[in-house]
Amino acid sequence: MSSYDEAFRQSVDDPETFWLSAAQDVEWDSAPTRALDDSQAPSYRWFPDGALNTSYNALDRHVRAGRGDQPALIWDSAMVPAKLTYTYAELLDRVATFAGALREQGVVAGDRVIIYMPMIPEAAIAMLACARLGAVHSVVFGGFAAKELATRIDDARPVLLVTASGGLEPGRTIEYLPMVEQALQLSQTPPHTVIVKNREQIPGAAADYKTSSAAWFDWDDLILDAAPAEPVSVAATDPLYILYTSGTTGKPKGVVRDNGGHAVALMWSMRNIYDIGAGDVWWTASDVGWVVGHSYIVYGPLLAGATTVMYEGKPVGTPDAGAFWRIIAENGVKALFTAPTAIRAVRKADPNAEELKKYSIDTLETLFAAGERLDPDTYEWATKVLERPVVDHWWQTETGWAIVANMRGLDPMPLKSGSPTVPVPGYRVEVVDAEGKPVQANTEGNIVIALPLPPGTLTGLWNDEERYRRSYLDTFPGYYLTGDSGFIDEDGYVFVLGRSDDVINVAGHRLSTGSMEAVVAGHPAVAECAVVGIRDELKGQRPSGYVVLKAGVEIDPETLRQELVAMVRDQIGAVATFRDVTVVQALPKTRSGKILRKTMRQIADHEQYSVPSTIEDPAVLEALAQQLGSQEG
Ligand code: COA
Ligand code: AMP
Repeated sequence: MSSYDEAFRQSVDDPETFWLSAAQDVEWDSAPTRALDDSQAPSYRWFPDGALNTSYNALDRHVRAGRGDQPALIWDSAMVPAKLTYTYAELLDRVATFAGALREQGVVAGDRVIIYMPMIPEAAIAMLACARLGAVHSVVFGGFAAKELATRIDDARPVLLVTASGGLEPGRTIEYLPMVEQALQLSQTPPHTVIVKNREQIPGAAADYKTSSAAWFDWDDLILDAAPAEPVSVAATDPLYILYTSGTTGKPKGVVRDNGGHAVALMWSMRNIYDIGAGDVWWTASDVGWVVGHSYIVYGPLLAGATTVMYEGKPVGTPDAGAFWRIIAENGVKALFTAPTAIRAVRKADPNAEELKKYSIDTLETLFAAGERLDPDTYEWATKVLERPVVDHWWQTETGWAIVANMRGLDPMPLKSGSPTVPVPGYRVEVVDAEGKPVQANTEGNIVIALPLPPGTLTGLWNDEERYRRSYLDTFPGYYLTGDSGFIDEDGYVFVLGRSDDVINVAGHRLSTGSMEAVVAGHPAVAECAVVGIRDELKGQRPSGYVVLKAGVEIDPETLRQELVAMVRDQIGAVATFRDVTVVQALPKTRSGKILRKTMRQIADHEQYSVPSTIEDPAVLEALAQQLGSQEG
């Protein structure tokens, strides 16, 4: 039996032994005697009698083991530009001091803290400082605008918000403080305190907001007198963070992650999936605002005692398509994890990888990709130019770590283009049809995971058990619904083809078409609308809006487009990348009034489509196909 088969078997047949053994890599204040608590099934808890502190495991433990002088975090900003290295001892010092500052502001275990920050070290420091106090952080991606921030504030009800004067995007600075102020005004439950890390490149400081309802403090002032905080022991089952992610409606879902299961799973994944251990240099090119950033810029590599690289910049244009190769060469990166869009961007700018010739990337062993489907073209190009394994793996915010992967540290397997390989131990992945019946090999269906999910996966949605069950557990009892469709081949390789719901994935960023529709519908000229994700060569998908005008309204289509684009940018954020608007006569619907978004997407992508038997008025579909130039199959 291969090591993979053996590990997978044990994780399924004897999860207690498997996960209690993995749990030994964590330093517990009180070691768990049990792995799984299934008393509240179908909600599960891991390590119910364990207690620990996640920041202690990510920092103190390594310093105590004598690795205080090893680099923990290398910050490289192509935007400032600047570079900073923090050793484990230095990072611990910064985290403990900022935790002390938070405590002096009244933050205690269980309180929520919103972190709205660009890619600067203080973002990671703030996350770890919350973890140190047992406070629950909720990081909001910097590309979201005030209204999205306010929505998250109202759901999480934080006592405090940590931010910075702003972020740097190519060609412009993003001033965060006016957006924070606006979010506080929009919010029903604003935090009483705001802490601002001032960046000298970006105007705005806490002192400018004296008149606001909240008390605003400057980060650097607060840490001057703060006494370092010791780690607070929390139950393994206590929440570490809430991360909001797009669902099918406009309201984001607050995915809750625990402390114990998370630490165990991430440590297991660093060794077994990524083959990364203490002292290795690891780089995830993502953003702390996404789950990939939480798990693999901050927690995973630090729990493993590795050196994590945090990059502020883009794969191209900052200044060129050699940016990634420079960072690998300068820092001796052993493995890079990024989204396929980033690879496509590099390929587009530098198809023959001329930039790569300028750098020595000998240390690089593997390129990991996730966040969206790794299309065969991109996979083949990257494999050819890098001459190294390019390893796709599939997961989602909800799971927090890989569901399907090619486990480089456990048992590297042959790579198949288009497949992230096989289920990770702990995940019983199946493909079922609309009735929940298992399908044959190579047959497309809904990808589901038999319960319980392994440690590290969501323990629920923040304050919304009903939505948690409805979204994930009720459709196929006994299974977690991933929302993705795909198939498993005769060798057990899983192929993930795309979402089967209205979630779209733009440049590796998960977005909800529902929230864009809500904005577009708010325009006075719009009677109804649909937003669907259509194919995009660079970003995988992009949102495309179809609007029906109110009777009698006359508006120039380009003016309407510009107004709608500005509204989406203002209310959701630039990251929505909403640029396409088409005025149509009517939207195709079923007789029960459901908009046929999938068929619309097929028409817009010029794919063959069939007319659903439940259609209300086939003529609407014909007119749309004629307008967009598609054919019925
Ligand atoms: N703060 C503010 N604005 C942001 C932002 C942030 N943190 N991140 C992105 N934006 C803005 C961009 O500036 C852009 O604005 P614009 O419309 O005015 O140009 C807009 O949001 C869309 O961003 P994006 O889709 O990322 O496009 P881009 O042209 O800036 O960059 C890539 C394209 C391919 C370089 C970039 O998408 C990329 O690196 N993708 C990798 C994906 C990734 O890391 N995913 C994380 C999950 S693994
Ligand atoms: P997020 O929650 O932002 O990480 O997005 C999760 C979604 O991204 C998944 O449900 C998939 O639709 C998609 N996704 C992530 N990784 C992959 C992958 N390796 N292959 C295909 N789709 C992926």
